[in-house]
Amino acid sequence: MTARRPRAIAEQARHARGLLGRIIAFIMARETWAANRRTIDALAITDRDQILDIGCGHGRSLGALAARAPNGKVVGVDPSELMVKIAARRNRRLAKVSRVAVRVAGADDLPFPDGGFDRALCVHVVYFWRQLEGPLREVARVLKPGGRLALYFRTSADAAAVAAFPADVYRFPSLEEMLAALEAAGFGIESLDTSGAGDAGPVLLVALRR
Ligand SMILES: C[S@@+](CC[C@H](N)C(=O)[O-])C[C@H]1O[C@@H](n2cnc3c(N)ncnc32)[C@H](O)[C@@H]1O
Repeated sequence: MTARRPRAIAEQARHARGLLGRIIAFIMARETWAANRRTIDALAITDRDQILDIGCGHGRSLGALAARAPNGKVVGVDPSELMVKIAARRNRRLAKVSRVAVRVAGADDLPFPDGGFDRALCVHVVYFWRQLEGPLREVARVLKPGGRLALYFRTSADAAAVAAFPADVYRFPSLEEMLAALEAAGFGIESLDTSGAGDAGPVLLVALRR
């Protein structure tokens, strides 16, 4: 059973600010770590990959990604200035040698040229998109043809999550809706893993840009 999240906490997860935002970032970095590790494993990262973490939050994933691509680069984006500050500070040593960078940006307007990334990931972020296809098209734009995107998210089939989070802050997509949006945005599905926590648990979906 998932405990009911107060509105103030849910809003901070969508856009962290102030002292409460710092506390949320600290907790989130622990709560989502297992999901991030599974998602990073699913990306099959290679030595020189250019990797984009969309909604990187606190930035705990960025160092782990950089370790998998010692001759590549990792970029994290997040619309919360506070999260970007925390992620930049956490990764300051890697940033100094240009292996990690963090920018303020949302998935619907990525400040990067076409086709620059080999890999992208997005963990527990899609709930905050007003619709799926626009951001997914933007991710497709910045990926190279054949580039791999890993999405980790809870779906509308997860009744406990749907009941626990305020519906006007978190929108859980159905799996069918996500598959259709990926197809429309120019992705083919490579794999779908629903083994996380039974049928209604989180989904790890890997897609390839056509
Ligand atoms: C639940 S947190 C997950 C953070 C991190 N990916 C993790 O696994 O811990 C959701 C993050 O998505 C960010 N976010 C919200 N709207 C977004 C958007 N439109 N595009 C990208 N990121 C967004 C939030 O600022 C927040 O850092």
